[in-house]
Amino acid sequence: MIKLSVSDLHLAYGDNAILKGVSMQLKQGEVVSLLGPSGSGKTTLLRAVAGLEGPHQGSIDIAGETVFDGAKRLELPAERRNLGLVFQSYALWPHKTVFDNVAYGLKLRKVSSDETRTKVESALKNLGLGHLGARYPHQLSGGQQQRVAIARALVYNPPVILMDEPLSNLDAKLREEARAWLRELILELQLSALVVTHDQAEAMAMSDRILLLNNGKIEQQGTPTDMYARPDTLFVAEFMGSNNLIKGKVSEIRNGSARLDGPGWSLWGENRGKAQSGMDATGVVRLERVRIAGGPGENRVSAKLVTSMFLGDRWEYLFHLGDSSLRAHGQEAVAPGECFIELPQRDLWVF
Ligand SMILES: Nc1ncnc2c1ncn2[C@@H]1O[C@H](COP(=O)(O)OP(=O)(O)O)[C@@H](O)[C@H]1O
Ligand SMILES: [Mg+2]
Repeated sequence: MIKLSVSDLHLAYGDNAILKGVSMQLKQGEVVSLLGPSGSGKTTLLRAVAGLEGPHQGSIDIAGETVFDGAKRLELPAERRNLGLVFQSYALWPHKTVFDNVAYGLKLRKVSSDETRTKVESALKNLGLGHLGARYPHQLSGGQQQRVAIARALVYNPPVILMDEPLSNLDAKLREEARAWLRELILELQLSALVVTHDQAEAMAMSDRILLLNNGKIEQQGTPTDMYARPDTLFVAEFMGSNNLIKGKVSEIRNGSARLDGPGWSLWGENRGKAQSGMDATGVVRLERVRIAGGPGENRVSAKLVTSMFLGDRWEYLFHLGDSSLRAHGQEAVAPGECFIELPQRDLWVF
């Protein structure tokens, strides 16, 4: 069952077009991430769905009801869209207790005080906050405040929950734990969620599907594995994962493969764009696909190892190849100097 459907949505601030025809769907129990660089329109799309920004074209349906239709000049206000919202800043009321923060939406809806108590207590329990109802926001850690913001969004059981960078105020270590916890909660409660993030690892870990926005348009959408392994464009390839980029000239095209040449090197890759002989092109290869090789061979080049950096669980090597820098991972420190590295043909994408 489709919980949220956005069709050909356009939105502008003055003359400045921000959303340029976005269409997407969210099914029951599904988590979709809106991923994209800063300024690509993620927050604007979320706010338009919530009814906090006015698009001028397209339509939005929530749980089978049309809440916006540009052609019919139909626009339901935010409070009638019944969505659970979690803002980046949490936006908790500082002078209300945790209990009252979570209860607020139910009060607005004139839910009885008995029912409010039951619902708030159950939401707090679901989020591991059962013992904190009487505290004020400033008496909570950042992670706990974030849980209160989520409890407040979930308490009236909305058909869709919208979250804008829900983890971005947490520090790196807490963030990784919170991501696992949030994914588990979403699965357990069978939530349908649209989650904004600019972090590709977070999008991949948390969601069933990713929509990658580029300048107000969806550049590509798919499962995390699809987006990672089969990017359609250079933009998607660059955005997903840690990459090496090698600029060169295409010297030969053969059966879907392209040969890329640069000063002192020549490599075969998969032709992923519209590469033609003589054209300038960019080769993209993920860091984890590059490896140090014992000697010369197919798709191997001689490069200068500049340094090995210890990352804890592995080492990272930095190479110079002509005027490009390349990085790779391995299990031990390697002494600086000339060495051969292999960029397997199927892992080198030529755009
Ligand atoms: N209220 C506003 N008035 C004018 N421009 C805005 C407003 N809000 C956002 N923008 C612009 O819209 C673009 C998209 O913003 P936003 O949706 O916040 O991006 P993201 O969340 O992907 O970083 C940006 O260029 C931003 O400057
Ligand atoms: Mg934003």
